[in-house]
Amino acid sequence: MKIVASKQNSRISALSSLEILTIFLLTTLPFHGKSQQINNYEKNILLQLKQFWSHPPLLKQWSSAKSSDHCTWPEIACMENSVTGLNISNRDVTGKIPPFICGLKNLIFLDFSYNYIPGTFPTGLYECSNLRYLDLSQNYFVGVIPRDVDKLFHLNFLNLEANNFTGDVPAAIGLLSELVTLKLSANLFNGSFPPEIGKLTNLEVLDFSYASEFPPWTLPTSLFTKLTKLKNLFMMGSNLIGEIPDSTGNLTALEWLDFSSNKLSGKIPDSVFLLKNLTVVYLYTNKLSGSIPLSIKSLNMEQLDLSANDLTGTIPDDIGKLTKLSLLSLFYNNISGEIPVSIARLPLLTDIKLFNNSLSGELPQDFGRFSMLEKFQVSINKFVGNLPDNLCYNGVLRDLSVFENNLTGEIPKSLGNCTSLEVFLASSNYFSGEISDGLWTSLNLAKLKEYLPGRI
Ligand SMILES: *[C@@H]1O[C@H](CO)[C@@H](O)[C@H](O)[C@H]1NC(C)=O
Ligand SMILES: *[C@@H]1O[C@H](CO)[C@@H](O)[C@H](O)[C@H]1NC(C)=O
Ligand SMILES: *[C@@H]1O[C@H](CO)[C@@H](O)[C@H](O)[C@H]1NC(C)=O
Ligand SMILES: *[C@@H]1O[C@H](CO)[C@@H](O)[C@H](O)[C@H]1NC(C)=O
Ligand SMILES: *[C@@H]1O[C@H](CO)[C@@H](O)[C@H](O)[C@H]1NC(C)=O
Ligand SMILES: *[C@@H]1O[C@H](CO)[C@@H](O)[C@H](O)[C@H]1NC(C)=O
Ligand SMILES: *[C@@H]1O[C@H](CO)[C@@H](O)[C@H](O)[C@H]1NC(C)=O
Ligand SMILES: *[C@@H]1O[C@H](CO)[C@@H](O)[C@H](O)[C@H]1NC(C)=O
Ligand SMILES: *[C@@H]1O[C@H](CO)[C@@H](O)[C@H](O)[C@H]1NC(C)=O
Repeated sequence: MKIVASKQNSRISALSSLEILTIFLLTTLPFHGKSQQINNYEKNILLQLKQFWSHPPLLKQWSSAKSSDHCTWPEIACMENSVTGLNISNRDVTGKIPPFICGLKNLIFLDFSYNYIPGTFPTGLYECSNLRYLDLSQNYFVGVIPRDVDKLFHLNFLNLEANNFTGDVPAAIGLLSELVTLKLSANLFNGSFPPEIGKLTNLEVLDFSYASEFPPWTLPTSLFTKLTKLKNLFMMGSNLIGEIPDSTGNLTALEWLDFSSNKLSGKIPDSVFLLKNLTVVYLYTNKLSGSIPLSIKSLNMEQLDLSANDLTGTIPDDIGKLTKLSLLSLFYNNISGEIPVSIARLPLLTDIKLFNNSLSGELPQDFGRFSMLEKFQVSINKFVGNLPDNLCYNGVLRDLSVFENNLTGEIPKSLGNCTSLEVFLASSNYFSGEISDGLWTSLNLAKLKEYLPGRI
């Protein structure tokens, strides 16, 4: 079974979509089922499906015995004794999806994820006229997404992740106007991305990541102007070039923005950091240049990773106002100036990664005192003065990398008590004095090789 690189995304769970569906179903759908009786017609369709798939061992509870009510089978959801959903996720299915399952007239959700289902997009499902939720992710589908995929016009969840779909993302997806979640990542698309997706005003999750075969493309400005409900935007590794459009600032509900590992250039638009609900911003490994926008109003920010770009200018003072920030990663840029002292006092900061820049001045002495600091990485900069005394104040410091600076003074004795420390790299500085006994015992020798007071 193939599995895409695990992501920390899934903020919108399948369950929440299903809850919405259930409410919808309860209030609007006409029912074809008969209460309190086993619906033999539907049961027979399921048994036919099992046979069509050559009896997968994992569907062992699907029994033709009269006493076996199909609504009690683990993979089946029913309402009023009529089948509303099939969850065949991870059942080792190797056969195709046959059209006859649409004989289940009340079907609203289908989850076929994590199987070995081959063939092209199952257009037979067009007959399932109440289908709201379709998950075909992690299978062996090939070919193009059909141009008439809008026949599934009631869909509000579509996941085609981790298959081998090729060609264009068809413009018809832009006609699925009820879509809330659209996941297309990790396929072999080699055509174009339709600006029509920008018409999906109900969209909350858009994932077009890991499009390894996609030709270099630029985000159309119009894509973002109407997506005012979009919370999660994932386009990592999708071969983006050109600039991040200013219209990204129109995504007023945006919480999670991941454009990492592309070739985006130009400045980070000021509008992005004005988004109030922004929580995670990953723009790392691109070719972004210019300064980080000085005005940052995204006060919910928890993770900010702009590493491995060509950014210059200084670290904005406003970052020191992001009281929920746990990760600040700006390494591999050419940022200069001093670290604003307010950053050292952020209460939730665990990881600060600033190595390989042109930062200067003294390291703020408060680092470590006000938060559970775990990683403090400031190597290859131009820092002067002492190493802060409080880095291990809360006893959780694991990685302290300060090599290649112009630091002076003694290695703080407090580090001798820092049993959590696993990596301490301090070479190429001007440290003086004794190394605390504790340090020698709490670090293993391999790591100590890098610890040498004085310039080497
Ligand atoms: C289907 O079942 C799997 C567990 O087997 C679960 O993770 C997934 O969320 C379910 N799908 C739906 C749509 O409820
Ligand atoms: C999917 O594509 C990958 C990479 O090109 C290939 O190795 C694999 O055999 C393909 N699988 C199918 C079912 O087409
Ligand atoms: C996309 O890939 C498919 C399958 O490999 C191929 O037949 C098609 O010619 C490719 N299209 C483009 C535009 O490269
Ligand atoms: C969309 O963004 C542009 C550029 O930031 C701005 O001029 C425009 O007013 C925004 N439109 C809406 C509807 O927010
Ligand atoms: C931002 O988040 C808050 C709290 O979750 C929510 O009430 C608000 O509607 C969100 N803003 C937008 C524009 O979606
Ligand atoms: C990091 O800095 C070193 C020393 O200045 C330099 O040789 C190296 O190329 C830098 N690495 C990156 C990825 O910028
Ligand atoms: C970094 O910026 C400084 C000016 O602040 C410049 O002198 C230096 O050449 C730049 N370094 C790199 C590697 O671009
Ligand atoms: C660091 O020390 C070197 C060698 O003494 C010196 O040439 C350089 O100017 C110093 N850099 C800073 C930023 O103090
Ligand atoms: C190390 O810990 C001991 C015991 O908790 C404490 O008495 C001592 O002051 C500490 N030393 C430093 C340098 O923090």
